Amino acid sequence: MITEQENQEQKLAYMQQDIIITKRMDQIKHKIAVMSGKGGVGKSTMAVNIAASFANKGYKTGILDVDIHGPNVPKMLKIGKIGLKVNEEGILPVEAGENLKVMSSQFLLSDENSPIIWRGPKKTAAIRQFLSDVSWGNLDILIIDCPPGTGDEHLAILQSIPSIDGIIMVTTPHTVSLDDVEKSINMAKSLKIRLLGIIENMSGLICPECETEIPIFGNGGGSEIASKTETQLLGAVPIEVSPKEHNGLLIENKESKTSEKILKIVAKIENMVLNNGST
Ligand SMILES: Nc1ncnc2c1ncn2[C@@H]1O[C@H](COP(=O)(O)OP(=O)(O)OP(=O)(O)O)[C@@H](O)[C@H]1O
Ligand SMILES: [Mg+2]
Repeated sequence: MITEQENQEQKLAYMQQDIIITKRMDQIKHKIAVMSGKGGVGKSTMAVNIAASFANKGYKTGILDVDIHGPNVPKMLKIGKIGLKVNEEGILPVEAGENLKVMSSQFLLSDENSPIIWRGPKKTAAIRQFLSDVSWGNLDILIIDCPPGTGDEHLAILQSIPSIDGIIMVTTPHTVSLDDVEKSINMAKSLKIRLLGIIENMSGLICPECETEIPIFGNGGGSEIASKTETQLLGAVPIEVSPKEHNGLLIENKESKTSEKILKIVAKIENMVLNNGST
C-alpha cells in the first residue's frame, strides 16, 4: 500500500522530471514523431531515412528509437553492439555519422536478442528517462521512431513533449493498415497534436526491367485516408528491391525511385517544419 506521503513524493519527482524534459527539449528546435497503428509498415525505415536525409542536408539531427520491444534503428544505421557513455550532462547519444546522433533502447540491452518484458508504467518511465537523461546538446531536429499502436509509449511521448511539431503517419496500401492508421490519427487529433501528413509506404514495386510501377498491394489507399481524415499525403514510397546492405538506409541507393520519393517527402517536411512553410 502506497502512503499519502509516498504519493506526494512521486508526484513531486514526476514534476521535477517534467522540468528537466522541458529544458532538454528546448535545446532541440524541432521534434517529429513517426507513428502508425499498424506494425511492419515501415515506420523505422521512414524515420531512419528521413533523419539521415536531414543530416545529409547539414541539419544537426537526432533519432530516438522508443520501440522498447523491437528497437531496429541501430541495425538500420549499421551500428553494432556499443557501450553507452555518460558524462556530467547525461547519457551521450551515439554518433552515426556527420550530423546524426542516435539513442535506442537497443543500447541498453546486454543481449540484443533478449526481449524486454515490461508493462505500461515501466515503459512510460523508461521513455521519460530517455527524454530527461539523454544529452543531445543543440539539435535542429529530432525524429522519434515509435512502436506500432496507440499505447503507453505514444502517450508518454506526446504528453511529455508539449512542444512537439507534429506526427508523420506511415501506412501501407492494405485496408487493415489504413484502418489502424485511422485510429492513430484519431488519437493524435484527440491530443490536439498536429498531423504533418501521411506516407504511403510499399505503394508499389518498380519493375527492375521496364521501370513500370506494379501496385502489388493496391494503391491510392494513402490519399484516401488522407482525404478522409483531412490530412495531407506527403508521398507514396515504392518497395525498394535492393541488396541486403541497403535494407535500412534506402536513400543510399541514390538512383532509385524509392530514394527520390523519400527525398521529396523530406523537402516537404523541411518546408513545413524547419522553414515554417515560408519557402
Ligand atoms: N519501401 C521499402 N522498400 C523495401 N523494403 C522496405 C520498405 N519499407 C520498409 N521495408 C522493409 O520492411 C520491413 C519492415 O519495415 P520497418 O521495420 O521499418 O517497419 P516498422 O513499421 O518500423 O515495423 P515495427 O512495427 O515492427 O516497428 C523491414 O525489413 C524494412 O527493411
Ligand atoms: Mg519499427
